[in-house]
Amino acid sequence: MTEQVPGKVDMDKLVSLCKRRGFIFPSSEIYGGLGACYDYGPLGVELKNNVKKAWWKAAVQERDDMVGLDASILMHPQVWVASGHVEGFADPLVECKQCHQRWRADHIKDGKCPACGGELTEPRMFNLMFKTFMGPVEDAASVVYLRPETAQGIFVNFQNVLNSTRRKLPFGIAQTGKSFRNEITTGNFIFRMREFEQMEIEYFVKPGTDEQWFKHWVEQRFNWYSNLGVKKENLRLRQHAKDELAHYARDCYDIEYLFPIGWSELEGIANRTDFDLKQHSKYSGKDLSYFDEETKEHIMPYVIEPSAGVDRSVLAFLADSYDEEKDKEGLRVILRLHYALAPIKVAVLPLSRNEKLLPLSKEVYESLRSCWMVQYDDAQSIGRRYRRQDEIGTPFCVTVDFQSLEDRQVTIRERDKMRQIRVPIEVLKATLEAKLGGEPLDVLPPGGEKWLGFE
Ligand code: GAP
Repeated sequence: MTEQVPGKVDMDKLVSLCKRRGFIFPSSEIYGGLGACYDYGPLGVELKNNVKKAWWKAAVQERDDMVGLDASILMHPQVWVASGHVEGFADPLVECKQCHQRWRADHIKDGKCPACGGELTEPRMFNLMFKTFMGPVEDAASVVYLRPETAQGIFVNFQNVLNSTRRKLPFGIAQTGKSFRNEITTGNFIFRMREFEQMEIEYFVKPGTDEQWFKHWVEQRFNWYSNLGVKKENLRLRQHAKDELAHYARDCYDIEYLFPIGWSELEGIANRTDFDLKQHSKYSGKDLSYFDEETKEHIMPYVIEPSAGVDRSVLAFLADSYDEEKDKEGLRVILRLHYALAPIKVAVLPLSRNEKLLPLSKEVYESLRSCWMVQYDDAQSIGRRYRRQDEIGTPFCVTVDFQSLEDRQVTIRERDKMRQIRVPIEVLKATLEAKLGGEPLDVLPPGGEKWLGFE
């Protein structure tokens, strides 16, 4: 799991870029960090928000059959009894008798401690849910859990959403939010964290149509990653073997990505049958069935669940877009992020700090920042500033030079092939809008001459 895949960006390189440029920091770093918890810095929070925005757009905004939800993290403790988490959400834990490090038994290859080779204890089951207490008394009656998945917040709101939106089957509920798991084995940066974020859909269908909807969602979700620029050769589907399926699942596919550490799960799509709604009906005593107007029957819907991790997606998008090119100035590092995901869409760069360039540069900057995240940078040489923007994935740089003061034209320079075009300032915003929205580069803006070759 910790081996480096040849030809893939080094995980250490990604970690270092993320720290240096303000994408991701270890949590509470000045105190030595906190195991498998991370903080998203100024660029990381933009990237992460863009991933969630792109997911919400595909999952809710562009579909007639989906609605959103934002349920609380703390839920009634019975939720986790009904869902099976109190009983079964556990991993087998072993401890080294010599160095006392703890490991997941199913991650051990040769029966020995991976750190010191020492003898290991017999495995015992360790529940992964974080516990806390609600109210001032710390006793068994006030135990609550930090949710280990967002899914249950959707199931317990099934009737609320149904009644308030008058939805008919099939329809789905989407939610993004934090989840918490007291993972035994961590490491590999943001691949496996103790506090992380999920993007989950519970899609409710008539029993008998579940297989068809399962296929639909596997396809939709796979395409979501490739539409956002993830290379197809780095994505694959893996069906779970029968003995691997979770207790609630009839079928499950993982979308796997070729991470720097090897092929690993990016998202799971499961056919959860009517397990969850039945369990919550039983434990709450509330009828969670659906009345089918056509057949005049109460039915318990089946559920298809595409469940993705925000942080794992961020890692996949970073790893997939990382690129290096040798050129005369050394090494150009580029994040070839899809425009929709890039944290900064445009950088405004005056050619130099000469104060004559300042008013027009600021005017251009001010005119763009209400539309996108735009950076203004006038420190160091223009070449260095281009490199800095390439390294954080900024699709377009706009340069204001002395000629601009005379003809009110600026240069747009694109990230991937460093092509440049000069356009009048009055068409700048519309040009950037069109290009960021996917218009091919070779469609020329009004008043723009053709893109100039390479830098
Ligand atoms: N409701 C189903 C469910 O939670 P899961 O396979 O346990 O299924 C779904 O989790 C996704 O959440 C995973 O594919 C992964 O992307 C993400 N995920 C799960 N545990 C994680 C962790 N410890 N750190 C980061 N992401 C995690």
